[in-house]
Amino acid sequence: MALLIQHGEVITATDRYRADIYCEDETITRIEPDIPRASLPGEVEVIDAAGQYVFPGFIDPHVHIHLPFMGTLAKDDYESASQAALVGGTTTLIEMICPGPADEPLEAFETWNAKAAPLAAVDYTFHMSVVRFDPSAQAQFREIVTQKGIPSFKVFLAYKGALNLSDEDLFGTLSLAKELGVIVTAHCENAEVIDAMQRTLEGSGKTGPEWHYYSRPPVVEAEGVHHLATFAELTGAHIYTVHTSCDASVRSALEARYRGVDVWIEAVVPHLVLDKTYAELPDFEGAKYVMSPPLREKHNQAVLWNGLRQRIISTVGTDHAPFDFAGQKEMGREAFTKIPNGVPSIQERANLVHTYGVEQGRIDLQTMVDALSTQAAKLFGMYPKKGTIAIGSDADLVIFDPAHRGAFALETSLSKVDYCAYEGWEQKGRPTTVTVRGEVQVRDGSFVGRLGSGRLIEREPTHF
Ligand code: URP
Ligand code: ZN
Ligand code: ZN
Repeated sequence: MALLIQHGEVITATDRYRADIYCEDETITRIEPDIPRASLPGEVEVIDAAGQYVFPGFIDPHVHIHLPFMGTLAKDDYESASQAALVGGTTTLIEMICPGPADEPLEAFETWNAKAAPLAAVDYTFHMSVVRFDPSAQAQFREIVTQKGIPSFKVFLAYKGALNLSDEDLFGTLSLAKELGVIVTAHCENAEVIDAMQRTLEGSGKTGPEWHYYSRPPVVEAEGVHHLATFAELTGAHIYTVHTSCDASVRSALEARYRGVDVWIEAVVPHLVLDKTYAELPDFEGAKYVMSPPLREKHNQAVLWNGLRQRIISTVGTDHAPFDFAGQKEMGREAFTKIPNGVPSIQERANLVHTYGVEQGRIDLQTMVDALSTQAAKLFGMYPKKGTIAIGSDADLVIFDPAHRGAFALETSLSKVDYCAYEGWEQKGRPTTVTVRGEVQVRDGSFVGRLGSGRLIEREPTHF
């Protein structure tokens, strides 16, 4: 059914203005100061957005849903993750395909897609992890890029013996990426150094969650960014540093940009609002906040928010990596090295950025849209179908009530994880209605959508 959204304030990455929006057949077809219902033919659903913002659907460029990792399996599936994402205003997910080094890349693509296709209510695509780079894998990566519509890679410089790439394979991956026009997203932390420091800490009895930080301090991440950027400088590949957590790493990326490297920076919402004291909570509570790179000293948050405000940092993702406290985080009671890494945030991202970014005057609404939607669409080959409100764009829309007041809580969380990392925190604003290609998926803040209606977005390489 056609959709008419009236009286809202449209917010894009560059503009804010009052307009009505008309959507037909999944697409925005009119944006005008006043579109009277009586002027439209046929059946039309009318939504009154008076007093509310109308944002383009948010895009989360960094999520894990199906994730075999650290001896366990992440908790969410596309049913719970789609619902949580949509209620939080996210209409498109980019999931990391993370196979093991013995797996075939094409089979991994099929496995991940088979988990998404029947259940997704969001639109979705993937970053393809390169965890091996032998000739057979290379041929498969070419096919994944050119035949499956996945023109972005993920590499891990961290996680020794599990996901990390050798320098030889990193150089090969970046060379292939340059040839194919693929952007390489990268987890930048030095695997060897972390492994050595973990052993030293454990050997001296420093086994609690609070020691995770000391096994991978900021300089380890900054070195990883520099390392990746050096390889990008030599190959000409375009790179994107995921979950960039601290001042030292942002500086390292900006130094590379100054040298001419095509590097973009992602922050993730846990690093923007949580600091290292959370991982130091007593009674093993800190395990809920163990992620990599670790939560940092609070002063780094100002650097990240400032970077967003200056649009030096392009995107805010979540790095949603959902592991229960009971039974999963608890695997690391004897040693922090066995705590599955991750802080679930897929539902909370936009509301946290609005509450602790916009409402506190750190960024404006247009910058929020840029970081939560537009930049991801541009960088990952989805713009202007996704990432903006324009005639011809997909009717992915978030009607957002800035006057709503509430609190983040497990009780309202749709992820399957047994805790909410932001429990009890004040929340200002929330999405009331969310559409994906013109279909209403959230109404009055609740999921009302259709599982399986989400589509795999086939993308073209743009990073030549
Ligand atoms: O702690 C994290 N980030 N867990 C998920 C895996 C990754 O490194 O992105
Ligand atoms: Zn990572
Ligand atoms: Zn991740």
